[in-house]
Amino acid sequence: MRRYSRITGTGSCLPPRRLTNADLAADLARRGIETSDEWIVERTGIRARHFADAGTNSSDLAVAAARQALDAAGVGPEAIDLVIVATSTPDMVFPSTACIVQHKLSQLSEPARGILGCPAFDVQAVCSGFVYALAVADAMIQAGTARRALVIGAEVFSRILDFDDRTTCVLFGDGGGAVVLEAGDTPGILATDLHADGRHAGILCVPGTVSGGQVLGDPLLKMDGQAVFKLAVGVLDKAARAVLEKAGKTEADIDWLIPHQANIRIMQSTARKLGLGPDRVVVTVDEHGNTSAASIPLALDSAVRTGKVRPGQTVLLEGVGGGFTWGAVLLSM
Ligand code: ACO
Repeated sequence: MRRYSRITGTGSCLPPRRLTNADLAADLARRGIETSDEWIVERTGIRARHFADAGTNSSDLAVAAARQALDAAGVGPEAIDLVIVATSTPDMVFPSTACIVQHKLSQLSEPARGILGCPAFDVQAVCSGFVYALAVADAMIQAGTARRALVIGAEVFSRILDFDDRTTCVLFGDGGGAVVLEAGDTPGILATDLHADGRHAGILCVPGTVSGGQVLGDPLLKMDGQAVFKLAVGVLDKAARAVLEKAGKTEADIDWLIPHQANIRIMQSTARKLGLGPDRVVVTVDEHGNTSAASIPLALDSAVRTGKVRPGQTVLLEGVGGGFTWGAVLLSM
């Protein structure tokens, strides 16, 4: 009998410090940088974002999201045999944030120690990271190398923002989202489609690195917004059609589109091309900003908890980001 994977629980975490556009504009004004709520809302749809305090790392947001997802799935950490964290803002150069998350989850209780020993690794595909991680976990479950995976997207993007660059610092936020993905004999994940084109690495990057005990190059985010916008709109449409074809489905079968939450205009354009009305698109970019690898699991969890996404519905997840990377996952909840 064929083996499939299915999401059995979702969770999320936002750091408590919430900044509206007006709050951020006031902070930036003190640095001599001018922006406004009106500009940000009109160009991006973003109204607020959450920023983590200095003592909070991606692993902390990941653990909080994972605990919710485990509760929703009705299992403890000891039931997990694979941990994948998608992040571009890891706690350290190494070990992976996934190993740190595994350790923190193992400390929750005596039985939770059972999570120790399972494979744990990070996936680095920037804003496509969660879609990449989910596709990898699905493949490992289908191959029989895992039974119950914790798949997490977590970011403290505020750490890599240049607050003297108004074209980027207003766009991003921090957060974490997680799912429990379990083996079963009915699908679950219907199809996945992943891509990258490294020729475009320079349009969205953090070019710095660590060498000889120092940061070499610029450790802050650089983006050619218009180039990203144009590429994103084209590749998201192709990825959506590819997963639908692989799964033998059509646009009419999609109940909910949950795209990467970067810019409302990219999301609306993607939905329009697929013939989906705005009422079929989950939008959290207004409240979260762009949380990179955390954006899709945050939006999914919010849609599940508010009763929008219901069991049995068909959901299209789509990621796009630095690399340039993109991909889609079509699934039945
Ligand atoms: N506040 C006020 N004015 C601003 C701001 C700001 N925060 N930022 C830029 N401007 C000004 C510019 O200086 C420019 O002024 P000028 O005409 O006097 O020169 C004007 O606004 C227009 O700037 P553009 O860059 O042309 O604005 P655009 O309409 O392209 O919008 C944006 C910029 C929002 C970044 C858009 O290009 C975009 O959304 N691109 C996609 C970005 C994205 O999705 N990135 C995430 C990818 S996922 C990942 O992997 C991280």
